[in-house]
Amino acid sequence: MALRKIVTEGDPVLLKKCKPVEKFDARLAELLDDMAETMYKAEGLGLAAPQVGIIRRIVVIDVTEDRSGLIELVNPEIIERSDEQQYGTEGCLSFPEMYGYVHRPKTVKFRAQDRNGNTYEKEVSDLFARAVCHECDHLDGRVLPTYIEEPYEPKDDE
Ligand code: NI
Repeated sequence: MALRKIVTEGDPVLLKKCKPVEKFDARLAELLDDMAETMYKAEGLGLAAPQVGIIRRIVVIDVTEDRSGLIELVNPEIIERSDEQQYGTEGCLSFPEMYGYVHRPKTVKFRAQDRNGNTYEKEVSDLFARAVCHECDHLDGRVLPTYIEEPYEPKDDE
């Protein structure tokens, strides 16, 4: 496994619509391993492939505090969104100084493939749902500054 460089604000790769993954091979497995390592090192909750310069529909997420809940989403698709919303803050490893409030569905159901190409579905809520929405937005070139509804300034004493 190896750390990858996280692409930041201003790099056009962040604004691209990513292509589906077609080959479930050793290269994909290596990329997924690297993305997880990079996410953990940066203390992020999720990372999308364009954030490491790869224009493919690949996401890793772990919203657990003890970092034991890694999930890999290849070619993810959100297939259900609850009417009930949540409103909370989001940040992004590619926009390290930026935080803001964003509405998201409280619960989403998504369909994705694992690293072997097997399709699975999962329903998630709260922070996990927020992370799935945020990372799937990355795959269509939608990034935090385009959808923050109100800025949030973290305070030093928090
Ligand atoms: Ni992000």
